[in-house]
Amino acid sequence: MGGWSSRRHPPAASASGHVNRRDRVLSSGPHRIVFANEKGGTGKSTTAVHIAVALAYQGARVAAIDLDSRQRTMHRYLENRAETVARRNVALPSATFAVFRGETIEELDALSEELSADHDFLVFDTPGRDDAFARHVATRADTLVTPLNDSFVDFDLIGQVDAETFKVRRLSFYAELIWEARKKRAMSTIKDSRREMDWVVVRNRTQHTEARNMKRLDQALGELSKRVGFRIASGLSERVIYRELFPSGLTLLDKGQLGELGTSHLVARQELRALVSGLNLPMPARPAASEPAMESAA
Ligand SMILES: Nc1ncnc2c1ncn2[C@@H]1O[C@H](COP(=O)(O)OP(=O)(O)O)[C@@H](O)[C@H]1O
Ligand SMILES: [Mg+2]
Repeated sequence: MGGWSSRRHPPAASASGHVNRRDRVLSSGPHRIVFANEKGGTGKSTTAVHIAVALAYQGARVAAIDLDSRQRTMHRYLENRAETVARRNVALPSATFAVFRGETIEELDALSEELSADHDFLVFDTPGRDDAFARHVATRADTLVTPLNDSFVDFDLIGQVDAETFKVRRLSFYAELIWEARKKRAMSTIKDSRREMDWVVVRNRTQHTEARNMKRLDQALGELSKRVGFRIASGLSERVIYRELFPSGLTLLDKGQLGELGTSHLVARQELRALVSGLNLPMPARPAASEPAMESAA
């Protein structure tokens, strides 16, 4: 194979190396969370990393697979995290991470299969463009997360909105694709067919928006959600801290590592927790990772 590279970390909650298969509540393999939309800069990678780390904090064994082999944002973020862990000599919950560099769907399935054996969640980050591998994982997601910024430009990725009435005129090719995939899965009679796909549109990088504009955006997104069958969850708001964390690979959950946090960061952490719970993910029955102690502030 050789079409991918990965680095592994022992999950914090099973540091003994002993994994009891019976404590898994997930019946048909790991839960697949896919971060996708066909546009860059909406916060896929940032959200993916934060969700992966949040799940690791809750004791889940997470594998993060980056399909964006050019930018590799999620992968590099987690690499930076591993370096911070080594440099500061501190234990932080993290994820196994891999970049997919293969050329065929079979190679991608083989990588997913291999990582399925000892992980509760597979988190896929995808490039912000039409991509065959991204489509493949998106149509097989258990939870598909589509971050959108508060703008009709982003909504257009899901459906066209009438210029006068703001009603939905037509669905995008992408929305049709996901719609078909869900229908196929719901009709599947294969005995071990996977659970239904939950499609969650996450409003990301939200900022203070003019009230009238906000109302239109809400109305259009609400209509799209009814037409296409996705849920809407609020994501992360626009904050400089999300851009600053990348070099250290830290997240807002790594309390002891971030120094003094102002109120706005506490609010941000609440936002992140609300996002995680809004995704309604099935959690394995495993003890949560404890808060890391600050050992040396190098
Ligand atoms: N909530 C946020 N607040 C501020 N900056 C953000 C936020 N989310 C993402 N960014 C920044 O926006 C840029 C694009 O985000 P990224 O997660 O890489 O998006 P995508 O993966 O969809 O292309 C990055 O520079 C990132 O640091
Ligand atoms: Mg990205």
